[in-house]
Amino acid sequence: MTTPVAPPQPATNQSQMNPLPPSVFTLPQTAQLEALYTIIRSKDTSRGDFLFYSDRIIRLLVEEGLNHLPVVKKVVETPTGATYQGVGFEGKICGVSILRAGEAMEAGLREVCRSVRIGKILIQRDEETALPKLFYSKFPQDIASRYVLLLDPMLATGGSAMKAVEVLIEHGVPEDRIIFINLISSPEGLRTFCTKYPQLKVITGWIDLGLNDKAYIIPGLGDFGERRYCE
Ligand code: URA
Repeated sequence: MTTPVAPPQPATNQSQMNPLPPSVFTLPQTAQLEALYTIIRSKDTSRGDFLFYSDRIIRLLVEEGLNHLPVVKKVVETPTGATYQGVGFEGKICGVSILRAGEAMEAGLREVCRSVRIGKILIQRDEETALPKLFYSKFPQDIASRYVLLLDPMLATGGSAMKAVEVLIEHGVPEDRIIFINLISSPEGLRTFCTKYPQLKVITGWIDLGLNDKAYIIPGLGDFGERRYCE
């Protein structure tokens, strides 16, 4: 028999970073969300459950990301003959996943944005300089005129994400048209990233305690790519 616990309380997670940079938005820190994170963090969770529950969080994150896109007034006529004064999205969007873990977030974006264009970017550590280096990128040719949802599940030091943003800006995407979406952030990664790119919005599911000496997020969930792709 399971022991009942007290009724759900709002999670106090945001005290990990107080105040939050103004460009950072977290998912509502509900008990349900905390339960999803508890499952994906556990080392005993099977790969099947990790896929299922991380997908649930990704879907919530993508929906929250879309809340930050601008809309314009739009009037439609309903089947009753009445008019409805509503809104429609203003511009075109695309996703850009940071390989390889970011690819895991593409399906969640496709579920909510039908036939969305998705670019990819591969950044790895340069063994000579120890700095993040661009190895591959492929973007929609009109990316400069789109809002970009940048996808990477874990914001640890922020090195790859900052390099990815640098590359997007080089391709003509204005900083304030980029929305970076991730499942877990470290406070230090967020701070560095938001200081360098203050106009860009970050949607994160959870802000953790910090980084260990191997740059893993603590408590974190280990290596996201390993958990997602390896049995
Ligand atoms: N990438 C991961 O997959 N996990 C971390 O904790 C940090 C970076």
